[in-house]
Amino acid sequence: MSSISHTDFLTTVRERQAVKHFDPQHNLSHEEIKELLEIANTAPSAWNLQHWTYLAITDKAAKEKLLPIAYGQRQIVEASAVIAVMGNLLAHHHAEAIYEQAVQAGFMPEEVKTNLVRQIMNSYTNAPELAQEEAIRSASMAAMQLMLAAKARGLDSCPMGGYNASLFMEAFGVPRHLVPVMLVAIGRKSVPAHPSTRLPVEETGFWNHF
Ligand SMILES: Cc1cc2nc3c(=O)[nH]c(=O)nc-3n(C[C@H](O)[C@H](O)[C@H](O)COP(=O)(O)O)c2cc1C
Repeated sequence: MSSISHTDFLTTVRERQAVKHFDPQHNLSHEEIKELLEIANTAPSAWNLQHWTYLAITDKAAKEKLLPIAYGQRQIVEASAVIAVMGNLLAHHHAEAIYEQAVQAGFMPEEVKTNLVRQIMNSYTNAPELAQEEAIRSASMAAMQLMLAAKARGLDSCPMGGYNASLFMEAFGVPRHLVPVMLVAIGRKSVPAHPSTRLPVEETGFWNHF
């Protein structure tokens, strides 16, 4: 991985593109991938429940298994790693441990922890749809940070929703409490990405009311 690190955040954001062709000779070490995941982990999440779970697919055989599941998209086998980002439907089970960390670190009094954990458990019990919504929402934030972390480390990425989630779960033994959110292919680009455009903010942004 390049040691060059962009200090200019806006440059990193502007230079990120969905790359379709990666150098298959380029490898990422376990440590390099772990660092990217640690940066992704700093994403915000509802109640700080950190709903994300990652499966790093780096072995040639595992990539070959994923290739047909992702409809033959070559990024799967050419990228150095494919990170399957999943959302945890049982993230509230971590509430106690997460808030205990905060208490131990001196960030929160015990009674605030007790109230928050109770609030989380009530919310998850009373609104079952919340589990899926929060899992996808928060894991998507981590996926975005993963792509920006890769860019900041001189790498490129491609977010991928084009895969059969059911087949993926079956083929990789994904536990039922995890919901696939997207695949993120990461590596060194071999062909520049297609330029893309955006709708103007005049069409997508509104002020105070519609
Ligand atoms: C949720 C999601 C799913 C996507 N799925 C795929 C995919 O399966 N294959 C692919 O090549 N690109 C995929 N893309 C990349 C988009 O095509 C790309 O982000 C978009 O065209 C804008 O280009 P840019 O990211 O280079 O600016 C996906 C992007 C997102 C956010």
